[in-house]
Amino acid sequence: MKIAIIGCGNMGMAFANSFIQYNLVSKEDLLLIEKNKERGDILQEQKAGVVVDTISERVGGVDLIILSVKPQDYPSVSSELAKVIQPGQLILSIMAGIPIAQIQLSLGHALIIRAMPNTPALLGMGMTAFAAAGTVGLSDIRKVENLINSTGRAVFLEDESLLDAVTGLSGSGPAYFFYLIKSMIDAGVAMGFDAAMSALLVKQTMLGSYHLMQTSDKSLDELIQAVASKGGTTEAALKTFGELGVGTGLQQGIFAARDRAVELAK
Ligand SMILES: NC(=O)c1ccc[n+]([C@@H]2O[C@H](COP(=O)([O-])OP(=O)(O)OC[C@H]3O[C@@H](n4cnc5c(N)ncnc54)[C@H](OP(=O)(O)O)[C@@H]3O)[C@@H](O)[C@H]2O)c1
Repeated sequence: MKIAIIGCGNMGMAFANSFIQYNLVSKEDLLLIEKNKERGDILQEQKAGVVVDTISERVGGVDLIILSVKPQDYPSVSSELAKVIQPGQLILSIMAGIPIAQIQLSLGHALIIRAMPNTPALLGMGMTAFAAAGTVGLSDIRKVENLINSTGRAVFLEDESLLDAVTGLSGSGPAYFFYLIKSMIDAGVAMGFDAAMSALLVKQTMLGSYHLMQTSDKSLDELIQAVASKGGTTEAALKTFGELGVGTGLQQGIFAARDRAVELAK
């Protein structure tokens, strides 16, 4: 399979590196299109693939084109790409917010798959949901699913509109996790630990709790109850979270991320 990646930043290269790692594409068949000179030079030095700085007719020779520029850079990408795209080429967009129909219209091309990954894809531990235009055949959907699986887990959504919710939940999710950890570390520092000690206490707690959750047959409520004995310390914390609306606040934030994804499409 020959693949072109337009926009080789964090996410584009997380995908590229996973494909290479699992031998899903060879470096000679991986066309990396990166406008940023500094980034392009680094990719060239790393011999990450065939590195170029502009969209040219060469793109017409690949099987799959991945769009991984920022949504605001897409209008200029689409006008260049529309000139060289060939019938039968498959497009995979990982750009937040831009609907399949809009990509189809701007490129004059039907075969579009839209995916929403997240940054743990850098480690092959990503979570990606994807949806496809009705015109994309099952074999092409499978091909893309196999590629995404090299970056972590993939789920296929029949309903494309749910991708905006995915953006708010798992796309931006890593940032919520880091935010939570940072708040806990800051609390440790406020109680007198140095930052390194507080970070150790918090990070190991989160790691252990994650595995406890994944291996236990208890529900999340039961796991919470198992820590929170009546009249105890955890109960005092949970009561304060409830009074301050921490859970609701988190949910409101997730809805705001989803709404922003919808807005970006306009
Ligand atoms: N980061 C995430 O957590 C995440 C999660 C899910 C989805 N996404 C989506 O993934 C996409 C990429 O995000 P990212 O974080 O990887 O961004 P990024 O690191 O900024 O990478 C985008 C790269 O594309 C380059 N570029 C811009 N216009 C170009 C063009 N015409 N031709 C070739 N390259 C061009 C940019 O160069 P300049 O820097 O010079 O502009 C930049 O190096 C976004 O659409 C985002 O919505 C990101």
